[in-house]
Amino acid sequence: MSKKQVKVWDPLVRIFHWSLVLFFVIAYLTGEDESQLHIYTGYVVLGLVVWRILWGFIGTQYARFSQFVYRPKTVMAYLHSLLAARPAHYLGHNPAGGYMIIALLFMLLVTTLTGLKVYGVEGYGPLATSTYDPPVTLISSAQADDDDHNATKEHKVDEALEEFWEEIHEFASNLTVLLIIIHILGVTVSSRIDRENLVKAMVTGKKQVDE
Ligand code: HEM
Ligand code: HEM
Repeated sequence: MSKKQVKVWDPLVRIFHWSLVLFFVIAYLTGEDESQLHIYTGYVVLGLVVWRILWGFIGTQYARFSQFVYRPKTVMAYLHSLLAARPAHYLGHNPAGGYMIIALLFMLLVTTLTGLKVYGVEGYGPLATSTYDPPVTLISSAQADDDDHNATKEHKVDEALEEFWEEIHEFASNLTVLLIIIHILGVTVSSRIDRENLVKAMVTGKKQVDE
């Protein structure tokens, strides 16, 4: 049987995927640094995920959620076909893979939003709570010299609250890493069973089908 190439992943989905890999890895590795690099790469991940969710509704055929979010019955049937070593073949994401994509996007949102929350409790970013509370030294020096506008403002950080959100943020990011490991295993196993290189397809956008 001859094979023909079919375009599955549009360029934006491919750029999205490999940028997500790059920025997620940098964000994960810089989490402990208290660095601006962590904040910026985290924002990029959040932007990518929000864009991908929108694209899931208005994007190209195989990018749409309606194309790869199957009914639970179909997922069970697919898992059975896997166990029976007669896996059904899908051009886009398979029914199990589809739910993994949803889980990944969801956990990426939780990770980035809890990151924003930590940042907010520290007094920065869009979720910043109004934490400016002039320290006593600042008040007395301001009273002593009313024209002194150069006094640096200090953020009063609720350390217990910061610790609380940091723990949740760290837990979410580790859970996301666990999903990513399962995702990569799933891609590897699926590539073997279907004898197709899924990683290459995420680079070129094309898959091979029997004519
Ligand atoms: C080097 C490691 C990785 C490889 C080799 C890889 C490979 C792939 C492949 C082949 C697909 C398409 C699956 C299919 O054909 O059904 C895919 C989809 C996806 N991967 Fe990865 N992946 C990797 C890392 C990651 C990471 C780190 C994340 C998240 C931070 C991620 C999130 C996703 C998402 C959200 C999709 C869905 C793409 C879409 O429909 O927009 N992947 N990945
Ligand atoms: C996918 C994206 C992200 C990943 C994987 C990630 C991961 C991490 C990790 C592992 C830590 C260390 C936690 C600890 O040791 O207590 C951390 C800390 C932190 N993250 Fe994120 N993060 C992400 C996005 C964000 C975003 C979007 C923001 C805010 C804009 C953010 C703000 C912070 C802050 C403020 C800390 C605490 C740093 C400190 O004071 O030690 N993160 N992150």
